[in-house]
Amino acid sequence: MRKIAVLTGGGDCPGLNAVIRSVVKSAHNYGIKVLGIKDGYHGAVEGDFMPLALKDVSGILPRGGTILGTTNRDNPFAYETEVNGKVQILDRSGDVIQNLKERDVDTLIAIGGDGSLNIALKLENLGLNVIGIPKTIDNDLRATDQTFGFQTAVETATEALDRLHTTGESHHRVMILEVMGRYAGWIALYAGVAGGADVILIPEIPYKLDRVVQATQHRAKVGKIFSIIVVAEGAKPLGGDIVIERLVSGRFDPIKLGGIGAKIGNELEEQFGMETRVTVLGHLQRGGSPNSYDRVLSSLYGVAAVNAVIEEEFGIMVALRGRNIVRVPLYEAVDKLKLVPLTDPLLIAARNLGIEMGN
Ligand code: F6P
Repeated sequence: MRKIAVLTGGGDCPGLNAVIRSVVKSAHNYGIKVLGIKDGYHGAVEGDFMPLALKDVSGILPRGGTILGTTNRDNPFAYETEVNGKVQILDRSGDVIQNLKERDVDTLIAIGGDGSLNIALKLENLGLNVIGIPKTIDNDLRATDQTFGFQTAVETATEALDRLHTTGESHHRVMILEVMGRYAGWIALYAGVAGGADVILIPEIPYKLDRVVQATQHRAKVGKIFSIIVVAEGAKPLGGDIVIERLVSGRFDPIKLGGIGAKIGNELEEQFGMETRVTVLGHLQRGGSPNSYDRVLSSLYGVAAVNAVIEEEFGIMVALRGRNIVRVPLYEAVDKLKLVPLTDPLLIAARNLGIEMGN
């Protein structure tokens, strides 16, 4: 009998539980046993596994987070390990292989974003059967039309914009919403258009502050004495830098972003006398129940991953192309991020709607 193990890695995301449920249910149909690995690659190295039977996934479809736990630290290839009272960084990938072997697991399903899938690819190169499922609210994985979790995050950000609109309008203020989006501005772009923002600033387009100021001043001139600005956390001014909140060692990516909204807010108030308020949406975008779109996409991904197990096609990631779920080589999935191209139809439409993109 086949046995597969599943882990969730990196930041959590609405729909993780829906994927886990889908994997377990469809594996059950084929008589495949499933083990869950706790806390991503941490559990894989430490041998922290749990059985995943039908009863374990009952009722989790609408639940946010992941019943398996996750982490964006703990890379098995550079793993903090205490040796004789001292912490050393060691390659512990052999422990992952060993732990799976001991439990008769022949395939690993890794549900993750760029960082977790890169590790999955390295494990595949060591001879492990690996299948990836694309997760991230940032929607920045190149080989798929969409990652699960993105649509829910956009909905959360759009609702926030609707709420900020009413306060901005009542108080005649500039309201800034800082959303997630490390390298890619998909959340800012989609939520900005859906939420009727006046300015959208994304990492792909370094912004000029005077364009932002002009846009808000122009609105005031035509009688709209409030403005809504959406800024992705990874946005930066032309010729300037991203705003780093702090560095966190041991993470896949040590840079913790945060503060670009406050920077722009301070500049608008101090240099241009515009009363401005800043909201950082933060992890509200990652938590909570997935919307129906993400539940469906997560379910499709889980089923497709198990189908790949049955057909013994490994080293792949399941991906959405149009309405179809296809298999793409894992290396293709992680070699480059999917950034918002300047030719993106929604970006062009945003400009045609009169939304200032900062350049
Ligand atoms: O990758 C998803 C993401 O949401 C990024 O947009 C953001 O920078 C990061 O996670 C934040 O991660 P953490 O929870 O470690 O602060």
